Amino acid sequence: MNKGSLGNTDLRVAANLPFSQACENNKQPILNVLQRELENYTQILEVGSGTGQHSVYFAPNLPGLQWQTSDVTDNHQVIQAWHNAYPAPNLQAPLAFNLRIDSIPKANTGKSYDAVFTANTLHIIAWPLVERLFELVGAALPLDGKLIVYGPFNENGHYTSVSNQQFDLSLRQRDAGSGIRNKEDIIALAKKNQLAFRETYAMPANNQILVFQKITAN
Ligand SMILES: C[S@@+](CC[C@H](N)C(=O)[O-])C[C@H]1O[C@@H](n2cnc3c(N)ncnc32)[C@H](O)[C@@H]1O
Repeated sequence: MNKGSLGNTDLRVAANLPFSQACENNKQPILNVLQRELENYTQILEVGSGTGQHSVYFAPNLPGLQWQTSDVTDNHQVIQAWHNAYPAPNLQAPLAFNLRIDSIPKANTGKSYDAVFTANTLHIIAWPLVERLFELVGAALPLDGKLIVYGPFNENGHYTSVSNQQFDLSLRQRDAGSGIRNKEDIIALAKKNQLAFRETYAMPANNQILVFQKITAN
């Protein structure tokens, strides 16, 4: 089979890999932002890599960056399967990172992270784990290190769309600790952890990317 003539969806079917349609839809808009924001960065930690689909798309398109995946161990087999199907020299096998129990894991390369990326996690994990994530990232990043967060956010305490309102309801019905976060709360939490808010990017389907930068040296 000629991989070059197929889209990723066809490739996934061919390889029989677990698949997220949302990742397929948002990967290019997210990549555009990452290419702009991470031009001079070399070592990124992805928190909550999920299926691993984002990582196999981002790593080869950001060749100057070592892309370190991580997640709770339950997801490692699937992430590794995607990596096996679409290897890249700068794509790093998943590390165990469960915010309930772990500290930031050491990169497979042995190098320190100068950036952290996470997509669609802040509305899934409970608020105390969101706080823990920002504490850990704020402590781990060097001066000028970046934290880049993708997902839906409320603004001024309001939903930004009816679909986000419905999504939030479904999240809370499934798990009372989940829910779309207020952008202002995230920015305040970041500030408490030495991470200055730098930029918002509007993304398709009423999502956003928030960019933070470490403002003090360790
Ligand atoms: C909705 S998925 C997002 C996956 C992927 N980033 C994406 O955009 O498709 C939420 C992710 O958060 C991870 N997650 C949930 N609880 C976690 C925890 N306690 N520590 C670390 N990651 C967690 C899940 O394993 C999952 O990969």
